[in-house]
Amino acid sequence: MKTKQLNITHEGLLSNNDLNLASSLLKAGELVAFPTETVYGLGADATNGDAIRKIYHAKGRPSDNPLIAHVGKYEQLKEIVEFVPAYVKKLIHQFSPGPITYILKHNGVCSNEVTAGLDTIAVRIPNHPVALQLLQACQFPVAAPSANLSGKPSPTSAQHVSNDLTGKIPLIINGGKTGVGLESTVLDCTGDVPIVLRYGSITSEMIEKALNITLPSTKPKTDQSPKSPGLKYKHYAPSIPLLLVKGSLKDLENTIFSYKEAGQKVGLLLKDSTTDQLGLKSNYKLGETIDEIAGNLYQGLRSFEQTDYDVIIIESFKEEGLGIAVMDRLTRAASKII
Ligand code: TXA
Ligand code: MG
Repeated sequence: MKTKQLNITHEGLLSNNDLNLASSLLKAGELVAFPTETVYGLGADATNGDAIRKIYHAKGRPSDNPLIAHVGKYEQLKEIVEFVPAYVKKLIHQFSPGPITYILKHNGVCSNEVTAGLDTIAVRIPNHPVALQLLQACQFPVAAPSANLSGKPSPTSAQHVSNDLTGKIPLIINGGKTGVGLESTVLDCTGDVPIVLRYGSITSEMIEKALNITLPSTKPKTDQSPKSPGLKYKHYAPSIPLLLVKGSLKDLENTIFSYKEAGQKVGLLLKDSTTDQLGLKSNYKLGETIDEIAGNLYQGLRSFEQTDYDVIIIESFKEEGLGIAVMDRLTRAASKII
């Protein structure tokens, strides 16, 4: 299959012609990769089971891992769920469109393939002008997992999508580098209080503040989490072993040194101040603030694809705010943590 790429206009939107092309492909049951503020999504009509099966096929994704239904506005969200609890209305008011996904009881409008047979559905209103333009043009919800091959880091640029999916999908919309760089916060909203199933840039503290409650302190597990099927799979992993070093700067320096001593070709992913302090060079510049690091992380991991490094060593980051989501992804991606 030939994969076409569309660029956005100077205003950062799709031209009318391109918007028509993208929405008619979706309507015809085809796949379209599009930018969101978190990572690129691989979209298909969520009411069309055959279209959804193409997503699982293109990604090589296990079919028991349900997808997020993306909608362009609250009215479209209400059309696919049984009901919206009062606290979810508050959260939507405060955080949506934005990098947060709500798990709610569904009403059967979306196909079983989207929900993997569960009685709940994940719904999100992404905060990206092109995504909103596309979703609002569609008269149906668009199911979209991250547009990467299953197991690889999520794509934060159209180039990543193209590397993984060229020849497998008809269209990629190039909206440039995504802003957040990590996938949305996933929140189970089927109970009286929400439960964070996947950490993201909308943090637990932000949710607690918005609702004036204390969230149950259940940390999503890295291995088995029956509530969110996707979390049990190996994720975000680069093709070369990733070593996550906790501990002091000295520990990091010693680890790097001992791998080099053993004759290993060592790739480094470090923040700017660490490279300065150690007098070393990071193979990919992660930046300094946690927002920069989150935004650059997947590109950094992917920058080692098709290189001959034996190991990638990455430092750990403070587990607060967005740092919790960064460390969650790194812990899942790491083949070893020391
Ligand atoms: O930022 C994002 O969320 C991106 C962009 C494209 O929107 N999407 C994304 O989708 O990361 P995906 O498929 O890679 O991750 C969806 C996560 C998975 O961990 C999945 O198991 C979980 O949401 N999920 C989906 N439906 C669920 C449900 N009904 N109950 C519990 N977890 C669910
Ligand atoms: Mg994914």
